[in-house]
Formats: sequence, C-alpha cells, structure tokens
Amino acid sequence: MAKVCRQHAGIRGRVWHLVGLSLGLGLLGVAVVHALPWNDDMYWQPEREAGTAARPPVANSVPTTGIEPPMSSRITERIKAGLRVRNPVASSPQSIQNGQELFRIYCAMCHGEQGRGDGQMVGKVVPSSDLHTERIRNQKDGYLYATIRSGGLVMPAYQHAISTTERWDLVNYVRHLQQQGQSQ
Ligand code: HEC
Repeated sequence: MAKVCRQHAGIRGRVWHLVGLSLGLGLLGVAVVHALPWNDDMYWQPEREAGTAARPPVANSVPTTGIEPPMSSRITERIKAGLRVRNPVASSPQSIQNGQELFRIYCAMCHGEQGRGDGQMVGKVVPSSDLHTERIRNQKDGYLYATIRSGGLVMPAYQHAISTTERWDLVNYVRHLQQQGQSQ
C-alpha cells in the first residue's frame, strides 16, 4: 500500500513540476514577445503635445491677430498686462451673449451664474470669488483678460481651452455683469 502511495506521490510531484515549468516558459514567452520591437510601433511615433497645432507655424511668421505679450498668473504680471493690453473686441450684444455662454460653461461653477462667488464648487474645493467687488471692478480689462488666460493663485488658466477672442468676450460679459450689479 505504502509503495503505491509513494508512486502516486512521485507522479503528482512530476505533474506539478511540469505545470511549473510550462507556467515559467509561458511567462518567459510573454515577456519575450512583449519586448519585440513591433510592440512599440504605435508608441514611438512623431507626435505633438495635446492642445498644440498639428503643423508648426513657418519660422518667423506671426498670427494675423498679432502676438500676445508674455503673461503669467503672478499678480504683478497681470497688473502689467492690464496697463499694456487694450481690449480689441467691442462690447456688442453678440460678444456679451457669447461671453455669457462661455461663462456658464467655464466659470459659473466657481463664480456663480451672476458672478457673485456662489458657484457649486465654492466651499468644497475653492474659496469664493465675487467678481463685483470694488477691487475687481477697478481693474483694467487687460487684467481680467490675463487672469482668464493665465489663471490666479487658485483659479485655473484657460490659455488652451478658450481662444483669444472668446477671452475678450468673457471680459465683456464680466463687465456686463458688474454693470448690472451696480444698477440693482
Ligand atoms: C475652479 C474655480 C474657478 C473657475 C472655474 C474660474 N475661476 Fe475665476 N477665480 C477663482 C478664484 C478662487 C479666484 C480668486 C483669485 C485667485 O485664484 O487668485 C478667481 C478670480 C477671478 C477674477 C479676479 C481676479 C482677482 O484679482 O481676484 C476674475 C476676473 C475671474 N476669476 C474670472 C473668471 C472667469 C471669466 C472664469 C471662466 C473662464 C473663471 N474665473 C473661472 C476661481 C475660479
């Protein structure tokens, strides 16, 4: 009896040995196949960063709308932009309406529909920021523009999401909201 059991144990041991060996070989095979060059074909290819143009502009060319002066989210830089940059977009009903649509998409969650600093995100992730305060009303259009473009301490930058003209539409809309707030 004992002999049979030993024999059985021997067979089982060999089976496990085979299972282990084939598992090991299988894993090795996967590793080898994975390391073969064709696996990287799609990874190593010419690519551009997200948000950049597919074709680089010709050397020394400038956009027909002109080049923006360098701006950053630093408050001193935004104040400088306010002194340097003029609002080229007239505050037409069309511009204000476009600004309103954009404001509802990009800004209202923090600043609130009327810009009173009571959006849904306030208190959860961001502090409130009322756009009707005297300090912000007294800022130049270029300052508001630079804030939208480059962001603030907490506020995100919209440089890549919102085009130049759209940013001015937003400035016109913020002004419109502020005027409405004053006449209430
Ligand atoms: C994630 C929340 C958030 C979003 C979204 C947001 N803001 Fe702000 N915003 C803030 C906070 C917080 C401040 C206070 C200043 C800071 O962050 O430095 C602020 C400040 C401002 C200011 C005044 C700058 C100052 O000196 O205080 C303006 C103007 C402004 N935002 C406009 C906008 C516009 C327009 C949009 C939409 C394109 C927008 N914000 C989207 C959070 C936000």
